[in-house]
Amino acid sequence: MSSYILGIESSCDDTSAAVIQGTKVLSNIIANQSVHKDYGGVVPELASRAHQQNIIPVIESALRKANINKNQLHAIAFTRGPGLLGSLLVGTSFAKTFALGLDIPLIEVDHMQAHILAHFIQDESGDQVPDFPFLCLTVSGGHTQIVLVKDHFDMEIIGNTIDDAAGEAFDKAAKILGLPYPGGPLIDKNSKLGNPNAFKFPRPKIPGLNYSFSGLKTSFLYLIRDHLKQDKQFIEKNVNDLCASIQRTIIQELMRKLIKASEETGIKTVAVAGGVSANSELRETLMSMEGSHGWKVFIPKFEYTTDNAAMIAITGQLKYIKKEFTDQKVTPYARSTSK
Ligand code: KG4
Ligand code: ZN
Repeated sequence: MSSYILGIESSCDDTSAAVIQGTKVLSNIIANQSVHKDYGGVVPELASRAHQQNIIPVIESALRKANINKNQLHAIAFTRGPGLLGSLLVGTSFAKTFALGLDIPLIEVDHMQAHILAHFIQDESGDQVPDFPFLCLTVSGGHTQIVLVKDHFDMEIIGNTIDDAAGEAFDKAAKILGLPYPGGPLIDKNSKLGNPNAFKFPRPKIPGLNYSFSGLKTSFLYLIRDHLKQDKQFIEKNVNDLCASIQRTIIQELMRKLIKASEETGIKTVAVAGGVSANSELRETLMSMEGSHGWKVFIPKFEYTTDNAAMIAITGQLKYIKKEFTDQKVTPYARSTSK
């Protein structure tokens, strides 16, 4: 497990490259794209262009920071999907060419699996990893899933959103409040100063372990629209309470189904992954489950929550050991089902 693997991530709006040796991350460089801020969401065309500009400098700096030469790499791992096709093509094409040039194996990685497998990064020798089977709440801008993880590459999605993802709910609520994209981190920040019980929203009524967040967005929009009719300054006066209330509602809903999943499966080892796992209230709420429900909770380090190439590199490392390589004909996929 001491091989050097380069991971490349370009599925959405972050260009990232990381070098891992064994399970230890030597570098994890991320170039965020600020071009999308004014648009309220990621503009795919602009994202692919920015990836094209960023990819070589990001890879060069990942190798430099890891203090290794490209000829020392054992394999190149890249995100094949899901994500924006134009963005994925930049990372995929670069990875294929680089692996061909260096004459080393190419390894495809599924972005959502990688978010979960980030839990197997061990930067310090004492870092604990979850035992199988465990449940993972995977919450990002595009996904909200409860995954039953039986082994590194044996995962079953037992709960899923039927419409918006949790990250999308954060981002859309932020947009309604006039906050820039991505709104999740700003809602988190403002919530610390607000009252989470100031406003109430109806709970989604979806059976089983599935989620729905689109109705919540609509009730948030209507509440604000109605109050604005009476008071034009309603948002400015209540922004912290609005953030705290919508955040509390989203987190309670995430937790309700996760608790149900734990009860139904009898599994008490629970992890969280994806961009929304950076949320401070979600992290605290999950940690409190250790005391109240006897869970063993795994929360990724902050730098491995939102999109990063370290998670691609660890997944690549785990596949490298199994010799699961990809050939040069590989093309990216936008959705997990379209492989
Ligand atoms: O995993 P990620 O970086 O990209 C996707 O694969 O989608 O997740 C991005 C999402 C965005 O919706 C962003 O608003 C949300 O994660 N996010 C947060 C926080 N940090 C990022 N949501 C709530 N609280 C945060 N602190
Ligand atoms: Zn992601």
